[in-house]
Amino acid sequence: MYLLIPAAGSGRRMGSNRNKLLLPLLDRPLLAWTLLAAKQSQHIHWIGIIGQPDDWQDFKEIVTSLELTKMVHLIPGGSTRQESVYRGLQGLPAIAERVLIHDGARCLATPELFDRCSEAVMNCSGLIAAIPVKDTIKVVSPGSRLIEDTPDRSRLWAAQTPQGFGVEQLLRCHAEGVRQNWEVTDDAALFEQCGLPVQIVEGEETNLKVTTPVDLAIAEFILRQRFQTSA
Ligand code: C5P
Repeated sequence: MYLLIPAAGSGRRMGSNRNKLLLPLLDRPLLAWTLLAAKQSQHIHWIGIIGQPDDWQDFKEIVTSLELTKMVHLIPGGSTRQESVYRGLQGLPAIAERVLIHDGARCLATPELFDRCSEAVMNCSGLIAAIPVKDTIKVVSPGSRLIEDTPDRSRLWAAQTPQGFGVEQLLRCHAEGVRQNWEVTDDAALFEQCGLPVQIVEGEETNLKVTTPVDLAIAEFILRQRFQTSA
């Protein structure tokens, strides 16, 4: 399975002036945890890290430190996640038929989740890992901050990554997104806007996206627990 890791963001919401994926989490940079899970996945054999060239030297050092035997390619990212993924797709080898896309910032995803998604995407053209939401979600008017709607919680799922797709189809959806100026925060949204079906695969509650310093502290806690229980 081919895996693309968008890793070309910044550390703005983390209050950092460098890529948050290079911040330390326990004894290694955040991105190293994401790559470690990919390394341990049985199905992933090719990894494309989409990043800003300024970070490449650090990325190379992380890859070396993990002694990855899988093929790793560095692909230049764009100014938005959407643009970065589009570039990543264009950097895939021509023979790639299916691809998983997994945010570098979701550094707690397990190898089992990668494998579950890899197996499922062989039987469908689009999928995402997701979990049922626990909170009641409100739709709020941005100006007045008045609630406009309370969607039925039993139908709401929180989208995660990995997200998996047929490469050709996803490339077409991205091209359509550019043509129509769609701005999306995940790849499934492009698939949906093109009228294509996207399946849910059970995600993981611990598969959080590290965005703020609080997330980093929670991620550290979860990793410590994992080591304790596996020791
Ligand atoms: O900023 P956020 O955490 O939502 O970004 C999700 C993922 O997309 C991160 O792993 C980040 O590195 C990546 N990204 C990217 N290119 C950008 C912006 C974000 O690859 N221009």
